[in-house]
Amino acid sequence: MRHAVIMAGGSGTRLWPLSRQARPKQLLDVVSDETGAHSLLAEAFTRLEAVLPAEQIWVCTAARYADDVRAALPRLCPDRLVLEPVARDTANAVGLAAALVADVDPDAELAVVSADHVIRPVAEFAAALTTAYDVLAVRPRALVTLGVTPTSPATGFGYVQKGAPTEVPGAAEAASFREKPDRATAEGYLASGGYVWNSGMFVWRARTVLDALAEHLPASAAGLDRIVAAPAGPERDAVLAEVFPTLPKISVDYAVLEPAAAEAGRVVVVDLDVDWLDVGSWPALAHTLDLDEAGNATRGLTVLLDSSGNVVLSDDPDHVIALVGVRDSVVVHTADVTMVCPVGDAERVKALLAAVEAQF
Ligand code: GDD
Ligand code: MG
Repeated sequence: MRHAVIMAGGSGTRLWPLSRQARPKQLLDVVSDETGAHSLLAEAFTRLEAVLPAEQIWVCTAARYADDVRAALPRLCPDRLVLEPVARDTANAVGLAAALVADVDPDAELAVVSADHVIRPVAEFAAALTTAYDVLAVRPRALVTLGVTPTSPATGFGYVQKGAPTEVPGAAEAASFREKPDRATAEGYLASGGYVWNSGMFVWRARTVLDALAEHLPASAAGLDRIVAAPAGPERDAVLAEVFPTLPKISVDYAVLEPAAAEAGRVVVVDLDVDWLDVGSWPALAHTLDLDEAGNATRGLTVLLDSSGNVVLSDDPDHVIALVGVRDSVVVHTADVTMVCPVGDAERVKALLAAVEAQF
């Protein structure tokens, strides 16, 4: 049967100070449309419902976000929530979800999607996801990734090199996979053509990704085996609490996709022809805010005079941010922190947060 899991346990540090350990970006109500304000996580769930019934949609997140996740997703089935005692990055989140899904459905085909994307139109996403599942009918051992046409040499994404076409229209073999290359390498990829961004959304049999973990990250696979060997309930929870924190912390892109792509035909890439946004940084989040004629993206109480290209957000209903003559800056005010940086330095917010944490 077809299943999907939403990876929703990241901490979203580059959107600090709005995104916090206690309430990361995927849980913030940053999307507003005709249905009102909602979170990226809720949007990810609704998007999957275009393809699957709610009973086949799982969410994997850190235990401390459990209540917020349940509140954001009223249609999530209680037994489809996978809780990690601590975050050990996506290789282990994917592995844990795959192991638990395989435990209830050994032949499960499992889509893995991110919780921090804006994707339009949903119909195109649904079509690409269906194509990715269809690939498994002809290539059961495939690790399928959905690929997006790159628009810049961004260094925060994975790059997939398209190779030979497969028997499924819209799906090609991946000739190589490179996670988060440096700028020069990314520029080279764009110049040569034939590369797409890894959207961070995958489709594979649950068994296949567990086999790939056993091959490329055996310490993780052995730990996951121990966890699912315990009977579901308090016993399994106890093993999970003991074993999961010891697993090697690494993303599925580095741990599985990069090495697996070295094997010809193992990784397959399906075109995802949509407007796609990873809301991973302040300039990206700006795309979800109101934009004025001077290119300022704002939310909350803001007044801007002779200012352009700024991202300005007041998260305090009583606090006004007023700018005059300011260009290309990010200004974010929350109840306890004000953060200001040039738009071009937005990737350094993660380092800024580390410096703040070291001091306070
Ligand atoms: N459950 C769980 N546990 N989820 C996690 C964890 C974890 O420890 N760490 C991250 N996630 C979730 C995030 O909430 C997000 O929805 C998703 O997994 C991807 O994590 P990110 O931290 O946002 O990854 P990234 O954006 O740097 O890179 C990935 O996505 C890019 C596209 O958005 C990679 O797959 C790249 O190759 C890809 O280009
Ligand atoms: Mg991301």
